[in-house]
Amino acid sequence: MKNIIHTVMLLTLFAVSPIIVSANPLPAYEGRGLYVSYCQLCHGTSGKGDGPLAKAMKISPADLTTTVRSRSDTILLRIITGKGRQTITGRDRHNLLSNAMPEWKDIFSKSQLKSLIAYLRFLSSTKHDLMGDPKIGLQLYHQYCQVCHGIEGDGDGIMTKLIGIIQIDLTNSNETDRISNVDLVKNILDGKGKFMPAWRGILSQGDVEALVSFIRLLSH
Ligand code: HEC
Ligand code: HEC
Repeated sequence: MKNIIHTVMLLTLFAVSPIIVSANPLPAYEGRGLYVSYCQLCHGTSGKGDGPLAKAMKISPADLTTTVRSRSDTILLRIITGKGRQTITGRDRHNLLSNAMPEWKDIFSKSQLKSLIAYLRFLSSTKHDLMGDPKIGLQLYHQYCQVCHGIEGDGDGIMTKLIGIIQIDLTNSNETDRISNVDLVKNILDGKGKFMPAWRGILSQGDVEALVSFIRLLSH
């Protein structure tokens, strides 16, 4: 009996541990959630520095769509946490980055900081707006799309192997960035090629816009 309990405990550990240790496969998606709750207030929905609180700030929140590009991950980490920020030069009016940008100290975990930075990189490099709510997109994607496109969007779904489908790698921004939002919506609603099904009738326009937003985040 003791042995059985021991085995069951071990199996449970094995079953649970990969979820705890595995790196977050959707950094920009998670980063967007954090950004909306903690940064959007000042930096605005699209990162341009025009959030609802911006007017009340003496020093304008940075336009992240232009400033982030030349900052390394290490510097961004320092800017966000405040640790070692004193030496970082700002952009205009004043030389050093001021404390008008809150120091978030230890509020975010390492993985959350990585996710935030991934989303900042998305904001500063994307040519396409997020047209729908990626949270709804994630749910729909799990329900209808991952069977072919894979959990992470790289095309590693169960069906892909079963019927030998060759398809687009949705995590590769070189492949998805050149397609406009309008074309992505159309190709999801009407289908494409032999194996990409048409979802019209099953998914609404709004559903598909949410999916497109989620797909945009997959590549960062
Ligand atoms: C209370 C308003 C406020 C909030 C909330 C806020 N920021 Fe800022 N942020 C600012 C201001 C103001 C600046 C510009 C500071 C300066 O120029 O001295 C700034 C600057 C920055 C910069 C530096 C841009 C550059 O390269 O010069 C980054 C990066 C940044 N913020 C990221 C974030 C992130 C990520 C969050 C959320 C975790 C966040 N901010 C939340 C006000 C805010
Ligand atoms: C039966 C497998 C299958 C399912 C299920 C599936 N796809 Fe696809 N998808 C494909 C294949 C195969 C392609 C490549 C089509 C081509 O380029 O010929 C593709 C291509 C795409 C593209 C690229 C379109 C373009 O413009 O090049 C997008 C975006 C996409 N799928 C999104 C989705 C979404 C969202 C869902 C869920 C609602 C979904 N797919 C479900 C197989 C699938």
